[in-house]
Amino acid sequence: MLSISVKEILFWKKTQLFKGGDHESLALLLDSVGGISTSDLNSLSINPEGNLYLKKNLEFLENIWNEHLLNSSPIQYLCGITFWRDLKLKVTEKVLIPRSETELIIDIVSKIFGNSVQKLLFAELGTGSGAISISLALANPLWYGIATDIDQDALEIARENFINSSQQSNLKFYCGNWWSPLESFKGKLDLAISNPPYIPKDTYEKLPKEVKNFEPKVALFGGEDGLKHIREIIQKAPLFLKEKGWLILENHFDQGEKVKQLLIENKFTSIEIVKDLSGIGRFTIGRYK
Ligand SMILES: C[S@@+](CC[C@H](N)C(=O)[O-])C[C@H]1O[C@@H](n2cnc3c(N)ncnc32)[C@H](O)[C@@H]1O
Repeated sequence: MLSISVKEILFWKKTQLFKGGDHESLALLLDSVGGISTSDLNSLSINPEGNLYLKKNLEFLENIWNEHLLNSSPIQYLCGITFWRDLKLKVTEKVLIPRSETELIIDIVSKIFGNSVQKLLFAELGTGSGAISISLALANPLWYGIATDIDQDALEIARENFINSSQQSNLKFYCGNWWSPLESFKGKLDLAISNPPYIPKDTYEKLPKEVKNFEPKVALFGGEDGLKHIREIIQKAPLFLKEKGWLILENHFDQGEKVKQLLIENKFTSIEIVKDLSGIGRFTIGRYK
């Protein structure tokens, strides 16, 4: 641990931000690698002569910041950490960095099921870092969850994130293509959730380089029209959901109506397009019969 004055840190922050980047990314670097949280810094900034303890020296942090600015590498990958709702999650280039808009899925689930203490079986298809499943399993200790992904490396990270976030054992991890790891849960799921890869081909080609060059294509690319995976998930969902079981999907900003149509064709009811905080129809939900 290195002792450093608040004044010195504040000056260092200002210098880094002058070179580029945003406050939020720099705060993540200082917190996850330096060990100084924004709230620590804020509460001490009235006393600039006071001291804080840094886990790594400023030169080490500056090298990471420079790499972030120079190569557009996402700061979360460089730090190996991201924050999502109240979770601190490990992330590597094997997993998508969970997005803040996806956090709303947890609120949608709470709205549907309330704070009921009933037992419930849920599956998340394409768990990536595990953010959604871990959040649900921790908030609902009586629920049992199965988190799947086609990528074994991603699953290892999700499993590690679960172990690091809790002592609970109500979440298991299975590898395979969409519903295939869930064969033994046919007709048993109360809830299935997926934030599948849904970026259409044309859009994928034009993604900003901090996304396209770093985040896994398998987590983003949804085929020619972006709906390849969503179609597969919806078509097979009736085999796995209980009667009246819910399916919650995240989709691209303009796919809501098409996803709704797919749900209607597959005999779902109570279909709703749910807007994110920017007013975009980001989620489509429905109930199987
Ligand atoms: C958009 S990411 C979502 C990750 C995480 N659930 C989140 O919200 O941050 C999609 C995930 O689906 C996984 N995936 C892609 N194709 C798949 C398939 N055919 N079967 C199962 N999972 C798949 C990817 O590996 C990736 O982790």
